[in-house]
Amino acid sequence: MITLKRATTGLADGQAPLKVAWVKEGALLPQGEALDARLGGLLRRALAGVGLKAGESLLLHTEEGAVLLFGLLEDARESGGKLAQALLRLAFPEALVEPLEEAYPLAEGLLLGAYRFDRHKTEKEAKALTLHLPGVPEELLARAGKVAEGVYFARDLVNEPPNLLTPEALAERALELRALGVEVEVLDEKAIKELGMGAFLAVAQGSENPPRFLKLRYAQEGARARLDLVGKGLTFDSGGYSLKPTEGMATMKGDMAGAAAVLGAFKAAALLGLPVELRGYIAACENLISGRAYRVGDVLKTLSGKTVEVMNTDAEGRLTLADALAYAQREGAERILELSTLTGAAVVALGEEVAALFATDGAWGETVREAAQRAGEKVWPMPLERAYREKLKSPVADLKNVGDRNGGAITAALFLSEFVKVPLVHLDIAGPAFAKKAHALGPEGGTGFGVRTLLEVAQAL
Ligand code: BES
Ligand code: ZN
Ligand code: ZN
Repeated sequence: MITLKRATTGLADGQAPLKVAWVKEGALLPQGEALDARLGGLLRRALAGVGLKAGESLLLHTEEGAVLLFGLLEDARESGGKLAQALLRLAFPEALVEPLEEAYPLAEGLLLGAYRFDRHKTEKEAKALTLHLPGVPEELLARAGKVAEGVYFARDLVNEPPNLLTPEALAERALELRALGVEVEVLDEKAIKELGMGAFLAVAQGSENPPRFLKLRYAQEGARARLDLVGKGLTFDSGGYSLKPTEGMATMKGDMAGAAAVLGAFKAAALLGLPVELRGYIAACENLISGRAYRVGDVLKTLSGKTVEVMNTDAEGRLTLADALAYAQREGAERILELSTLTGAAVVALGEEVAALFATDGAWGETVREAAQRAGEKVWPMPLERAYREKLKSPVADLKNVGDRNGGAITAALFLSEFVKVPLVHLDIAGPAFAKKAHALGPEGGTGFGVRTLLEVAQAL
């Protein structure tokens, strides 16, 4: 765990058991220079021979205490993340860190990089570390702390194993947000049936663990704009009768990462007191196999009234989302931002780090794209190509739930767009939601992707 504090003294005049100076292309930054002057050029001499690369560090013991020279990465946020990971490997309880011009991304990176998920380890890795940042405004550090809390919340939810994070347990975690002033309503199976969410219910019916539909609302007094968020909430996706192979199932506890991003954004928005009205909708269930699971060939009646022929039970996310989106619109959404780990095809197209952005409205799409860019989350626009709509034609129902092998992320997005008339942005986060290995901003597992973008969008409205 890392705590950030404002420091009133810099590297050259401050007291700390460990001081961190940045090295960029072999040279020290200003505060490091000042410290080096006091140390009679020791740092520069130490650097001269080694050719310190980005992300590498060099620990020196000087007459003024320990100094860590750290190679700056291109990105300030990632520099912070890598530095936090290096500091957690050392034994110091405190350090004075040279600030960067990009003070906010650095602070966010320090916090995100330090994330650990050790809830189920009998031996905790937990180590407390306090970092002092000279001259950085207190409010900036407080903001980074609140954003990181939202991201941590989302990561914890994604990392929680699926035997423990059932739809009911996810609802319980959402209800915790009430303490922050978020209104949370949980609909049970009976209420979901009465509403007529036939597609969502069909996906859920194979599991002994009943589904839950979550409704959230957060509104600061004098809220200027309204934003409706929808997140895919499959607490586990086995594929159903269109069963996934074991390797494909390995990360499917993370198939609720869209929901986790929505919940994380609500948490951070409430902590920050953002002056907006947020609504959130999550259809939470499991996609399993049993004597009562839905089949290939079933025809379902969605909340919108449209019927869908199931041609692949592993294309379940779009079925649950069809009903959640229709419900959001019914509740008066003016514009919707939806996040889902929807297709493997999005990962094939853009890889593990970039989310696919689809928009039914150009301006709304651009707003979200720009927000993601400011947030430092990678998204790339994809075409909602109408020509492919015919791939979703069904001989017996209004549409079927899969197209053919080609353009799978696009046909999935086209399917979703059938259920709403208001401007919709769909972010397919199947790639970046779950990291298969450790990275600059965190360990292997849930990344909390989307939380920062959602907050930036909310702030821009
Ligand atoms: N949850 C998966 C998508 C996914 C794949 C997320 C890999 C994260 C990593 C989704 O429900 C799914 O299985 N989609 C199918 C759709 C296909 C049957 C049209 C897919 O992508 O294979
Ligand atoms: Zn699936
Ligand atoms: Zn899925």
